Amino acid sequence: MRRIYLDHAATSPLLPEVREAMLPWLDAGNPSSLHAEGRKAKAVLDEARETLSDALGCLFAEVLFTSGGTEGANLALIGAAIQNLDASRTRILISSAEHHCVLQSGPALEALGYTVELLPVDGEARVDLDFLSQTLDDRVLLVSAMHANNELGTLNAVTEIAERAHGHGALYHCDAVQTFGKKLPGLDDPFPKLTRLPVDLLTVSAHKLGGPKGTGAIFIRAGVKLKPLIAGGGQEREVRGGTENVSGIVGFAAAVRAATARKTSDSVNPRDVFLSSLVEAGFVPTVESRETTLSGHAHLRLPGVDAETMLIRLDREGVSASSGSACSSGSVEPSHVLLACGYSAAESKEGLRFTFGFETSLAEAEEAARRTILVGQQVKAQRS
Ligand SMILES: Cc1ncc(COP(=O)(O)O)c(C=O)c1O
Repeated sequence: MRRIYLDHAATSPLLPEVREAMLPWLDAGNPSSLHAEGRKAKAVLDEARETLSDALGCLFAEVLFTSGGTEGANLALIGAAIQNLDASRTRILISSAEHHCVLQSGPALEALGYTVELLPVDGEARVDLDFLSQTLDDRVLLVSAMHANNELGTLNAVTEIAERAHGHGALYHCDAVQTFGKKLPGLDDPFPKLTRLPVDLLTVSAHKLGGPKGTGAIFIRAGVKLKPLIAGGGQEREVRGGTENVSGIVGFAAAVRAATARKTSDSVNPRDVFLSSLVEAGFVPTVESRETTLSGHAHLRLPGVDAETMLIRLDREGVSASSGSACSSGSVEPSHVLLACGYSAAESKEGLRFTFGFETSLAEAEEAARRTILVGQQVKAQRS
């Protein structure tokens, strides 16, 4: 049986051109060394930074490489918090539907003396703008609200959030791990330059767009200062110590170039075909409008059926999907995103996330729908 991989939001397969670009650099010199090997590594690092800054629409010096989205978010939040310890700003606002890498920065921020407050979201994981306006004041140091939600694929009103934060002199961090390199709903540009958004800090990760795992980048707008979380030899403008992951960074740049060169197609979106079939078969979509979500995301529930049961059976049927939420000791926890959206604890264990890649074909979408519907029917029949 041919497996169908529908978990691109968790990680996307390494692109062949990325693998090829990386191989010669696995044995790179140290970019900090003065000799020829070091200078060669430094040059390829500069080239990659140029690619990233072009793609993000920012200055060369505004991009620093990290080990991925998690480190980037930690650096944005905790780095800003340490940098501003002496300031009068003691509140940090975080959307309640953020990825764990943002939410779990909370305890460290509290240990530094900050008050961390969770922002409520609507039924589709978007920050409640009225609440944000009411709660913001001049004691807020930073607001963190993601671009697209990794579970639902819905987008926050980033510009409105940033404007409100800036109105009170607060910084705005945007976790753009799910949107970097993707076409966004309502925009024609297949690869929008995300730092044109009014963000101060923006974090991205290579493995969500066909690059290697363990590599990412942070955009730090000129003038914004962060204290390093990894102290070391002054690499990455003294904000992130440690010898750079040269091959990973080269791979990230290759993935970005591949995404930039990709043409969008007007043909029918396999995700839509998949969603329509499942909805017809009794699955309930979590998001009302497909037009406002990332084009590769499908999130549904089969009421009364745990995601865990479905996912194990789907895996046996050769469909790789996800609940989108964390697994601990092999069991699916209630999704904090669905809980924040107002679902009950039981419903929050039912979320199924299918995420499509640019290479997922219509035939795969149809076959995955057939297998998923069959599994759903079998699980339901065994229950009754
Ligand atoms: C929205 C979001 N932020 C951050 C991350 C973490 O990125 P990384 O795996 O590169 O640490 C992920 C990964 O799933 C994500 O989806």
